[in-house]
Amino acid sequence: MLLEGSPSNPSQLIDPMQKKVSKIGVMTSGGDSPGMNACIRAVVRTGIYHGLEVFGITRGYAGMIDNDINRMDSRSVANIIQRGGTILKTARCKEFMTKEGRAKAYENLKSHGIDGLVIIGGDGSFKGAQIFSNEFDIPCIGIPGTIDKDIAGTDFTIGFDTAVNTAVEAIDKIRDTADAHDRLFIVEVMGRDAGYIALHSGIGTGAEHILIPEKKTDVEQVLASLQEKEKRKKLVNIVVVAEGDDFGGANDLAKVIKDRIPGFDIRVAILGHIQRGGSPSSMDRLIASRMGYSAVECLLEGKVNVMVGIVNNKMYYTPLDNAVKAKQKISEEWLKIVKILAS
Ligand code: F6P
Repeated sequence: MLLEGSPSNPSQLIDPMQKKVSKIGVMTSGGDSPGMNACIRAVVRTGIYHGLEVFGITRGYAGMIDNDINRMDSRSVANIIQRGGTILKTARCKEFMTKEGRAKAYENLKSHGIDGLVIIGGDGSFKGAQIFSNEFDIPCIGIPGTIDKDIAGTDFTIGFDTAVNTAVEAIDKIRDTADAHDRLFIVEVMGRDAGYIALHSGIGTGAEHILIPEKKTDVEQVLASLQEKEKRKKLVNIVVVAEGDDFGGANDLAKVIKDRIPGFDIRVAILGHIQRGGSPSSMDRLIASRMGYSAVECLLEGKVNVMVGIVNNKMYYTPLDNAVKAKQKISEEWLKIVKILAS
């Protein structure tokens, strides 16, 4: 279930028994994404505005366990809004998945007096927050920070827009050289199990085919369509493949096409981690600032275990549990658009 609300409009996610927070921790966790720094800045400065003490936890849950926790002030987040990566660094931490690891983390938070947490990350990070909060009664607010956009309860995740723009820029360049040589390019983009980067960047670059995990790939249909294009001498083609597609990656697809349609001159480009870096787009800076601000407001209002999202340009609050389990839906209409425009 998606719960609507706004920071000034308390929803049923408020726990009336929750103590007032005075010291909060902020961290980034899981894969980094462009805009995380803008979000850290927003959390720190909103917290300070409200008279809270704010602590930065380095390397996510790993830093919580190692007590890598430091007080932050307004100046410590100066000049970072435009920077990719995360000044707090990030990690994927197995130890936090053990009871002992979480107990250590809790003791460290307690030693600093931290009574509220803001976690900027993806669904894996939210899962950890959910368990931790239930065990130790620390309110956790999640902020969706991932290039994959694979979290329910929000139209945007921090970093997605920048990653799509990076992919679009790269594919545009690939199209220039594809055109010069009459080549078929198969471009693999990131997204883990989700096809949003592929879908958005593929539509934005006029790709002939877009293969995504949410839709079973009919390779025979792709081959038939390429054969038809070859017959009418349309040799410049771009196929965008999401790394998590059920058929396989770009290399698997290239092999099949090479075997079945030898007439095509095929090249593969795997965009990889360039999609995770770079200066965040204006959109990512904006949503990161809004979400960071809103997360602190949530803690002050007594909301517990929610993810701050944006739906239809309004702040939305989804229980962390639901944000983890559900996925966003791929629009059937968008898939139809791809087909019609690829002629
Ligand atoms: O979740 C973000 C993401 O970039 C995915 O798109 C990708 O599958 C994965 O992280 C790569 O992880 P790593 O940086 O650990 O190789």
